[in-house]
Amino acid sequence: MTDGTTAILDALHHQASGYLTLAELQQRAGLSASRVADGLAELQQRGYQIEVNPHFGCRLVETPDQLTADGIRALLAARVIGREIQVFAETTSTNDVVARLARTATPEGITVFAEAQTAGRGRRGRVWHSPRGTGLWFSVLLRPPWPLEAHTRLTIAAGSAVARTIRQCTQLDARVKWPNDVTVQGRKVAGVLTEAGPGYAILGIGVNVNTTAAAFPAELREQATSLRLASGRGQDRVELAARLLAALDAEYARAQADFDAVAAAWAERCDTLGQQLVVTMGTRRVEGLAHALDGDGALLLRKDNGQIERICGGDIVVERT
Ligand code: BTN
Repeated sequence: MTDGTTAILDALHHQASGYLTLAELQQRAGLSASRVADGLAELQQRGYQIEVNPHFGCRLVETPDQLTADGIRALLAARVIGREIQVFAETTSTNDVVARLARTATPEGITVFAEAQTAGRGRRGRVWHSPRGTGLWFSVLLRPPWPLEAHTRLTIAAGSAVARTIRQCTQLDARVKWPNDVTVQGRKVAGVLTEAGPGYAILGIGVNVNTTAAAFPAELREQATSLRLASGRGQDRVELAARLLAALDAEYARAQADFDAVAAAWAERCDTLGQQLVVTMGTRRVEGLAHALDGDGALLLRKDNGQIERICGGDIVVERT
């Protein structure tokens, strides 16, 4: 997109309801009449439905179901997360793209989306199915000020921000499950994969947005869902992406200033605390009551003998007893 089309889109998006006259549009976009006409034509060609009425002016009727960096940016006043956005038609894993950027001097906040991933991955080496154009598959480069072992804070903050955004956009009761699941109606709708290296963390997030039941592999159909399946209506992925990035940005800032507040908000919507769990870490098996998060986002398990066991993210399996 050109600067002109971005400015037009920005102005149209910010007109909450009704029409913008062409004169207003020119003024808000800072463009001449002919550049506005060219920009509108380009946007229409790209699938934006824009009604242009000779008496009333124009209004945005529908955005195409296609992620574009400008489409997301037009809806976002990014502070850190999303201050630069890239959208790939296809990649192996967006976490891989960001890992390459992480080893350069790229500042934190850059966010990489892909319409499809050919090697999307989840925790514990699982495959993350990322069918084209149906979800939000993205990764954010972060350079948090805390040590590597505290990176579970990011997973907690991100899960909480994703669940809150889903609740706001769909009215579904989205919940979190330690360490990285977001569920609706008892099924997984989104997951967070935090990977870290020296001086950086990569926050990878997958949200099943408009996925149909048939698009899930048979073995996941009972456990997974999408926002569309759970709410009965398709969601605007561009708008959801912008709202997610804004929520993640706010929660990341809060995690740096006051992680206890992040943990408290997470705990309000969590299905893990208060449960009797069995946690498997390699060959070790620990059973106990999940009773709190600690200051690093680790789960504190009270065993039957009263001892507290601290469970970090990583390669563990959590089951209810
Ligand atoms: C999980 O629930 O196990 C985590 C899933 C994380 C999936 C996202 S999709 C974008 C990013 N790229 C990946 O390969 N994985 C994460």
